[in-house]
Amino acid sequence: MAIRRITTHKIQQMKRRGEPIPMVTAYDYTAARIVDSAGIPMILVGDSMGHVVLGHDSTIPVTVDDIVNASASVVRGATRPLIIADMPFLSYQIDAETALRNAARLIQEGGAQAVKLEGGKTVAPIVRRLADAGLAVMGHIGLTPQHVNQLGGYRVQGKTESTANKLLEDALALQDAGAFAIVLELIPVELAKRITETLDIPTIGIGAGVHCDGQVQVFHDMLGLDPDFRPRHSGKYADLASIIRDALEQYSDDVRDGVFPTDAQSFFSDDSRARYSTTTDIGS
Ligand code: KIV
Repeated sequence: MAIRRITTHKIQQMKRRGEPIPMVTAYDYTAARIVDSAGIPMILVGDSMGHVVLGHDSTIPVTVDDIVNASASVVRGATRPLIIADMPFLSYQIDAETALRNAARLIQEGGAQAVKLEGGKTVAPIVRRLADAGLAVMGHIGLTPQHVNQLGGYRVQGKTESTANKLLEDALALQDAGAFAIVLELIPVELAKRITETLDIPTIGIGAGVHCDGQVQVFHDMLGLDPDFRPRHSGKYADLASIIRDALEQYSDDVRDGVFPTDAQSFFSDDSRARYSTTTDIGS
């Protein structure tokens, strides 16, 4: 029997059962395969790809085409997790019909099962329009990186009573509009706890403390792929940049010294059946 993909209902059931929900970003086939093999139930094809894949200094230049292409490769790599595609800057704010057209591209061409968009009460009518059209929508409040120019930087949100109350109202508006889950980014632990306890739908935190129903991190941050940047909230699960750099230096030295390739990596005319890879033969 075919393995079934995780659904939004399963994610909501995890909240009801008190089962923490891990989530991570991915932007390509190979990373998505690894995330899937680690048993992580949700993958976000985040517009954080603007930083970690495309080298921009914000998420603002990311386009719908960027996310469509990344989603399609993630969907091919990860067969079990629920795949959520981020709606890029200005792909949903203009009007509800433009939002629906762009969301449809992420679902139909990108193959994602859900979309995510940033904002609270002001985007609730858009969330309602997408949900009414049958799309699964994830909200995102707190630090919303697409608003970086308005917010004046990447800062903790909701530290005062009035901004905390506003974020709670935003979360309720998104839930009422039909969002199936909400990302809480960079808000105080106490506020994330209050929102999580108030909502029926799951909260997925990033820099929002342990009381959220789930956690999300950017793949490159948590695995240490950028030696010069690791946000405090991502933890330190690996230092892949130094592992990869060491391997590349070794390879480069071996090529220069003439010790790579050896016979083991070479093919000879009298080989009757050569192994092309550890799993594939090439014809005789
Ligand atoms: O784009 C992204 O990776 C995100 C997460 C930080 C939640 O929106």
